[in-house]
Amino acid sequence: MKITLPGLIDVHTHMRTPGQSHKEDFYTGTTAALNGGFTTIIDMPNNTVPITTKKLLREKMDIAKKQTVVDIGFHFGSLGNNLEEFKKVQEKIFGLKLYLNQTTGGFIIGKKELTKIYEAWEGTQPILLHAEEDVLDMVSEIVKKTKKKTHICHVSSKLELTKIAKAKERGLPVTCGITPHHLFLTNNQEKKLGVYAKMKPYLKSKKDVDFIWENLGYIDLIESDHAPHTIEEKETEAPFGVPGLDTTLPLLLTEVENGKLTVDEVIQLCHTNPSIIFNVPTSKKTFVEVSMEEYLLTKRDLKTKVGWSPFEGRRVIGKVKSVVIRDKKVFENGKVLIKPGEGRVIYPKRD
Ligand code: NCD
Ligand code: ZN
Ligand code: ZN
Repeated sequence: MKITLPGLIDVHTHMRTPGQSHKEDFYTGTTAALNGGFTTIIDMPNNTVPITTKKLLREKMDIAKKQTVVDIGFHFGSLGNNLEEFKKVQEKIFGLKLYLNQTTGGFIIGKKELTKIYEAWEGTQPILLHAEEDVLDMVSEIVKKTKKKTHICHVSSKLELTKIAKAKERGLPVTCGITPHHLFLTNNQEKKLGVYAKMKPYLKSKKDVDFIWENLGYIDLIESDHAPHTIEEKETEAPFGVPGLDTTLPLLLTEVENGKLTVDEVIQLCHTNPSIIFNVPTSKKTFVEVSMEEYLLTKRDLKTKVGWSPFEGRRVIGKVKSVVIRDKKVFENGKVLIKPGEGRVIYPKRD
């Protein structure tokens, strides 16, 4: 059986270029996107040199323009010392990404900077936060005061989701996303997967994961947090992060087959809501054909440069057969049909 989906949107990816193109580049990363049914991705700013100026953003966009095979947009970064750059980039970026806990790149900020940045941000796009359990109360306080749209990335625990649900019920302009690894892995698997299950936030208990599945109604979107690191790096420095663009859709469609999700929910979480929350342009002429066949996920199913996934060895259902972007077939049977750079750099829609 085949199903047709609208082009999926992933608002949380790390393409690693410039600076760490040995992990991923815009061609390999966007090829992995097509392989996983994503026709639009948004790239995070935690490059080796974080993307905190208009000039750095421009340089990154220029590289992406030459390499991408999908629609690609960008988030901007801040450590609190680039407030004057906000106005220069706010029309061009999908969100302002801030890190409140330790993770890859180490671009962590505290309450003082956070408050300053919230007060300075006048863009209409959301502020995205890496904000785990310990900092969520402080976040609620600042969002309540400033009323700025805030997206909490990669919710991972019962405590986090409970705090976010409360904020939503109090009417705060808060949305949140979940990653496939926080939906499909628990800390029980850490023993078997070792460093390949090392990411931020850490994997949580089965109780946490069950709670999230039972309260999926509070989750606005699915974000892969595609965060590739090479096998060699994982084996030596063991950095945080796992790739996800290739595997997100088959993992979700397997749960459709199991009756845990509907196709409509997958579309809501991976297309409609991301598009609404981040003003991502879409086209009715962009769609994905998926064969609902069952197969064992192996390295051969991956296009990410790093060539590994914590989900290798799983039986999954759903293989992307072809992808059409604005009426043009760009991917079929594992092959990209267009040249690097024939994708587009995109900007948020304006009403
Ligand atoms: C991400 C990365 O590698 O850039 N790592 C991760 O474990 N999620 C950064 C992040 O999203 O926190
Ligand atoms: Zn993060
Ligand atoms: Zn991330």
